[in-house]
Amino acid sequence: MEQQLFTPCNIGPVSLRNRTIRSAAFENMCYQNKPSQDLFNYHVSVAKGGIGMTTIAYTAVNRSGVSFKGQLWMREEIIPELKKLTDAIHEQGAKAAIQLGHCGNMTHRATAGQMPVGASNGFNIYSPTFVRGLKENEIYDLVKDFGKAVHLARKAGFDAVEIHAGHGYLISQFLSPYTNKRKDKFGGNLQNRMRFMQLVMEEVLQAAQNDIAVIVKVNMFDGFKSGMQIDDCIRVAQELERLGVHALVLSAGFVSRMPMDVMRGAMPLKTLAYYMDMTKFWWLKMGIRIAGRLIIPTVPYQEAYFLEDAKKFRKAVNLPLIYVGGMVSRAKMEEVLSEGFVAVQMARALVHDPDFVNKLQNGLQRSGCKHSNYCIGRMYTLEMKCHHRVENLPKKIQKEIQKAENK
Ligand SMILES: Cc1cc2nc3c(=O)[nH]c(=O)nc-3n(C[C@H](O)[C@H](O)[C@H](O)COP(=O)(O)O)c2cc1C
Ligand code: SF4
Repeated sequence: MEQQLFTPCNIGPVSLRNRTIRSAAFENMCYQNKPSQDLFNYHVSVAKGGIGMTTIAYTAVNRSGVSFKGQLWMREEIIPELKKLTDAIHEQGAKAAIQLGHCGNMTHRATAGQMPVGASNGFNIYSPTFVRGLKENEIYDLVKDFGKAVHLARKAGFDAVEIHAGHGYLISQFLSPYTNKRKDKFGGNLQNRMRFMQLVMEEVLQAAQNDIAVIVKVNMFDGFKSGMQIDDCIRVAQELERLGVHALVLSAGFVSRMPMDVMRGAMPLKTLAYYMDMTKFWWLKMGIRIAGRLIIPTVPYQEAYFLEDAKKFRKAVNLPLIYVGGMVSRAKMEEVLSEGFVAVQMARALVHDPDFVNKLQNGLQRSGCKHSNYCIGRMYTLEMKCHHRVENLPKKIQKEIQKAENK
């Protein structure tokens, strides 16, 4: 098999030194919603570690799209700090991307500064919160906010934006019949449910002005009967190709229904509950202890777990596709590239070791990440970190990690 991982590639107007991309994995390091030294150190270490492009995760296009205190939202005042970060990434020879999105119903009034909004009225048991359906004029304002966020990303020196249209966040909430119950032109059949995404992409492509890449992270399926199925998602991918985006990242899962479809394995419930603030979230902590496995079911992990589905998309569209999901070994990465994917994204392998790509280039065959998912349980409350980098973990968490790693 031809070895392609360390050959350059192009995504729209951007050239990468190799075919590795650090996928958007929420850092929870933007204390008071601003870039921090921790965010800077982590991404610069990944850039130094040989990555082709690193992606700053889960940035909201406006205040109502924020779901965590440690999350960025795009505004003029943070641009100088982001510029320092992109400059430092570029100095290491890597490219910089930023994931832009809106959480929709996945937030609380206190974090979003208003009642959470979504495609339709409802109650989101995962937050948990009541949600108000967006009015038509608010939809058009939100479309503009996506464009403004892309303008700011260009100003901050990013080479690419990754629009988050998957995982059950706002664009995905419009696409999915599970969350979109609208009776107007934004609801009903798939053509109507795609309308918000289409407007956003037109605005984004205009703001990107053809000198930064526009990547879209999409679902291949939502993961349950009343959600989007693979055929619907292929139509979405074809529509994005028609609109002229430069590449798609193929993922799956819906955070308010099947969260572990995204990352696979078990949610580490003891870790999740341990870090939660007891004074504020005692009821949620109790709920997780009592019914955690029912609310967050385990989805079995295997290497390259999305590959068979991603190959169906490879056949259905011609634009560059980026593979994500269970990339830990050099051999699988080469296999994925040989199937016609332009690059591979990785999250956990680079949470485990920011220097992983250099090590691969120097002959390492496999990441030491064994998918305990500790980093996922922790990320909801504290800054992202692999358990290998945390000292004095309580015994019950050590046991939970061991159990997951031995499965
Ligand atoms: C700690 C953590 C945080 C994540 N946060 C995000 C996120 O903010 N946005 C997103 O699109 N995906 C997020 N993901 C999913 C990853 O981008 C990726 O799709 C998934 O983990 C599969 O890749 P992997 O097997 O290489 O980890 C996150 C994953 C992890 C482990
Ligand atoms: S905490 Fe576990 S899943 Fe996360 S990066 Fe470390 S080894 Fe991998």
